[in-house]
Amino acid sequence: MLLIKNAEVYTPARAGRVDVLMAGGRILRVEPEIRMPAEYCEVFDAAGLVAVPGFVDAHVHILGGGGEGGYATRTPELALSDAIRGGVTTVVGCLGTDGVTRSLAGLLAKARGLDEEGISTFVLTGHYAVPLQTLTGSIERDLLFVDKIIGVGEVAISDHRSTQPTFDEFVRLAAESRRGGILSGKAGIVNIHLGDGRRGLDLLRRVIAETEIPATQFLPTHINRNPGLFEEGIAHAKGGGFVDFTTSSIPAYIAEGEVKCSEGLRRMLEAGVAGTQITFTSDGQGSLPTFDEQGRTVGVGVGRVTSLFPEVRDAVLQERVPLDVALPVITANPARILKLRGKGQLAAGHDADLVLLTPGDLEIHSVVARGRWLMKAGAALARGTFE
Ligand SMILES: [Fe+2]
Repeated sequence: MLLIKNAEVYTPARAGRVDVLMAGGRILRVEPEIRMPAEYCEVFDAAGLVAVPGFVDAHVHILGGGGEGGYATRTPELALSDAIRGGVTTVVGCLGTDGVTRSLAGLLAKARGLDEEGISTFVLTGHYAVPLQTLTGSIERDLLFVDKIIGVGEVAISDHRSTQPTFDEFVRLAAESRRGGILSGKAGIVNIHLGDGRRGLDLLRRVIAETEIPATQFLPTHINRNPGLFEEGIAHAKGGGFVDFTTSSIPAYIAEGEVKCSEGLRRMLEAGVAGTQITFTSDGQGSLPTFDEQGRTVGVGVGRVTSLFPEVRDAVLQERVPLDVALPVITANPARILKLRGKGQLAAGHDADLVLLTPGDLEIHSVVARGRWLMKAGAALARGTFE
């Protein structure tokens, strides 16, 4: 048992000074003045610290991705230590551009490995391409038979790297994902990779207008990648859809018009978008390619899960978004939208995933995942098998 005492708690709603009691990987109680005998329980005095739910990063290329500048640009797998440093206790793994040298079997194995190392994982079936590659032969079977598979993606549209799915192909895919989700009690959500193409959200708008599939069946990502897409995202979210920002970036992208996530969150809220419609994800281990005007890859970097929380911190410290408004984009919102049971909240019955932050500058101080310390007072207490 682990008792975190005297922290300023955000569940992510502001709960004031309460104690958090955890046992067997779950949260038992979140109440003022919990007392437990020391022989049964580690008591940690977190006075002066801020306790928040462990972060949920719902779009990470845990198996590595990239390869868009040739074989040497394939990116490495996620290391546990990166997740720990980033306060990320839950990741949703996905494939990206490359579904040939990367496979769903490999993705699932990597997810199970990260589970064994100490964090929680889920995966998406498919990758950029349509028709979709699945693990068991269909989207519905994948959702019904593979516990970790919770949805589809990232399916690429409005991008030169997309397989350019037709309207009918795209609708069919979304319909299968919806049916699989309904039958399995999962979200069955379609994670959509949006490129810089001028068609933007056209395909999505047409599905919502012409079929019975609701806007909430989709989680379009990279919504901050250019000013036009960002404005389309505001309209989509005000119409009831979800929008996902990508926190991994490089200065060149911002210079070209990418909207910094922290600023984008404030602007969306000011534009009247409900905070519940917004998520941030890191696109961790994805490649960060730079292209010349002819579309040739001229450079490549790697996204990091450690980019996730700093954008929430910047939203609070630089953009003056209250912490209890900013935190849900990496905690309660992705957990609710993706139906990740037991995740994203500090509440009795939920998984014992918790991050302690320093007051004022909001640096990550400690990380607990499923009741186990992964970082304590800045010192990592766990590492990946080969780290
Ligand atoms: Fe993507």
